[in-house]
Amino acid sequence: MTENLTEAPSLLRELSTEGLREHAAGALTRARQRSTVLTDAVDDGDLVRQHSKLMSPLVWDLAHIGSQEELWLVRDVGGREPLRPDIDDLYDAFQHPRADRPALPLLGPAEAREYVGEVRAKAFEVLEKAPMEGRRLTEAAFAFGMITQHEQQHDETMLATHQLRKGEPVLHAPPAPTRRGGPLPAEVEVPAGAFLMGTSVEPWSLDNERPAHEVWVDGFLIDTTPVTNAEYVRFLEAGGYDQQRWWSEAGWKYRQEHDITAPRFWWRETDGWWRTRFGVREPVPAGQPVMHVSFYEAEAYAAWAGKRLPTEREWEKAARFDPATGQSRRYPWGNEEPTAERANLGQAHLSPAEAGAYPAGASPLGVHQLIGDVWEWTSSDFHGYPGFAAFPYREYSEVFFGPEYKVLRGGSFGTDAAAIRGTFRNWDYPIRRQIFSGFRCARDLPGV
Ligand SMILES: [Fe+2]
Repeated sequence: MTENLTEAPSLLRELSTEGLREHAAGALTRARQRSTVLTDAVDDGDLVRQHSKLMSPLVWDLAHIGSQEELWLVRDVGGREPLRPDIDDLYDAFQHPRADRPALPLLGPAEAREYVGEVRAKAFEVLEKAPMEGRRLTEAAFAFGMITQHEQQHDETMLATHQLRKGEPVLHAPPAPTRRGGPLPAEVEVPAGAFLMGTSVEPWSLDNERPAHEVWVDGFLIDTTPVTNAEYVRFLEAGGYDQQRWWSEAGWKYRQEHDITAPRFWWRETDGWWRTRFGVREPVPAGQPVMHVSFYEAEAYAAWAGKRLPTEREWEKAARFDPATGQSRRYPWGNEEPTAERANLGQAHLSPAEAGAYPAGASPLGVHQLIGDVWEWTSSDFHGYPGFAAFPYREYSEVFFGPEYKVLRGGSFGTDAAAIRGTFRNWDYPIRRQIFSGFRCARDLPGV
């Protein structure tokens, strides 16, 4: 172990038991406000409809949020009687693939709303009395944090369902900020050396982020910002989608079989590229990060640009490592929670912000917009870290370990602050692009 490598302490650890309860209650309440916005925005017909085979009906997500909260907070932490044991199976994500969910005898919109409300009332009763120590599930209110993150993750999934929904816009938010400050260098050098990856101290971190472990990273260059639409259009216009040489074998097969010719939701007009965004038709904004691309498209663009995707450890070192102190930070800007000045999160805007819009969110090495805007594909498969232990259940992440999933990092404009940090890991199939996915490139140092 290199002696000066440390992990920044978590601010949650400084809270008293009462402070933790307040923090958890606030986080749960914010998540519910968002779930309510997403489900109240459409009528009952839209709530029960399947807008895409890739997604559940919104009303399934809503009751599933309540079902998980009942299982963990009401029954397990609280030791209370089940409210609705009869519906456990319907909302078990492992029992029914998304495509089959509309055919299930699901709770209707009114029943689902009533159910999640009843569960929440009980969960708050449990929160008032639950010990915040003595048992790992409740240590520093972990179970409440886990359920908050679960709800926020489903909120992001519901936001993706809104993007797939046909019809007039129903969600509204101010436009994302534009670039601030002077021009940025295209790339940043991350010096060779070890750093501490993952976390052993963040109380609400999930099992796959644990434990902190020292890893070596060779020196490399990483793009200062995610790849923008203007940059991506150059790849399109250069015929990138028609030239097999830029694509991996699996990527080319996918591109051919599905006749992929541009990012999802894009189409070509005589005056350029257009896209739909939550029901709005608009010219593709040049300065924003490209979004709705699969891993295979990201990989092909990187090859065309003479670069590659960063590995997961490279991404995390660029995001967390402070070369002055040897410390791995909680976030690129430091240890304090995200704010509107630091990152585009939480559906505050309904799109990514222009590259260069968040100078206050840059890492010590000067890498921008690592948190928020778009999820970033990495070249890494999803695996457990050395010393990984499944908690609180194998299905949280362990059953997904393996080469079929690629890791995404950093969160999107649709990710809430409660469900993102420098160590947070997301994973998906390399063909997926209904998610808010983009990427940035990296490359080896020349001459190395
Ligand atoms: Fe879930």
